[in-house]
Amino acid sequence: MQIQVISIFPEMFAAITKYGVTSRALENGLWQFSVINPREFANNPLGYIDDRPFGGGPGMVMQVEPLLKAYHQAKKNIKSNACRLIYLSPQGKPLDHTKVKELSHEDDLILVCGRYEGIDERFLSITKAEEISLGDFVVSGGELPAMLLMDSVLRCVPGVLGDANSAQEDSFANGLLDYPQYTRPVEFNGYGVPEVLLSGHHAHIEHWRLKQSLMRTLEKRPDLLDKRNNNPEESCLLQEILQERQDKSILE
Ligand SMILES: C[S@@+](CC[C@H](N)C(=O)[O-])C[C@H]1O[C@@H](n2cnc3c(N)ncnc32)[C@H](O)[C@@H]1O
Repeated sequence: MQIQVISIFPEMFAAITKYGVTSRALENGLWQFSVINPREFANNPLGYIDDRPFGGGPGMVMQVEPLLKAYHQAKKNIKSNACRLIYLSPQGKPLDHTKVKELSHEDDLILVCGRYEGIDERFLSITKAEEISLGDFVVSGGELPAMLLMDSVLRCVPGVLGDANSAQEDSFANGLLDYPQYTRPVEFNGYGVPEVLLSGHHAHIEHWRLKQSLMRTLEKRPDLLDKRNNNPEESCLLQEILQERQDKSILE
């Protein structure tokens, strides 16, 4: 996968290219990365690429021309026939696991990071860029949202994670939240580890983990269960959990 980012702050991307699994995957050639700085296409010697908004109002707006030229530059570098152009925007469709999986199958992504009050709307009208949001809040620029998107997408690219099962067992991958995790020591300040995890009995451990995932999802994100088709084992476990809850509330 090749990811090209259009940003006036290329150095920020060290966070993803120099640290952790994404950095190792980059070194191993599992993805390629470059940043195109729209300042290179500014129409003035000082490299300004922003101007005051028509109609007045606070702040500045990124100009359409340098952004468009940066996009055309990125398009020249693409290796596949098609590329996905994404503008990180609080007005976009919220990023979720389904979208992350979908993007992980792409060969070429171009991500546009806005700054200031945002970008000239004509960039979106001309390019028909897809808008993706990281949530219903506003941050100062598209770089952090772009890195979050990249990290989550890259985790789904085969070979990026040391253990291929890691991403499949993460929260949301199968529509449930992840089960609780423990590591050494076995006892800490009076807090132990569930016996079953020390038993070495794989089938029991799997069963316990599935039940824990269902319990957590029911407790923290019941909306996820509404969207999900549970298999017979899961339905049975959910019944058991609900019964246990009822019994507990009777006793209390
Ligand atoms: C200060 S914001 C501009 C917000 C814009 N005035 C609005 O209210 O829609 C500057 C840039 O940060 C990025 N950004 C801010 N919040 C974001 C979010 N929740 N998701 C994705 N990108 C975001 C976008 O690229 C945006 O152009």
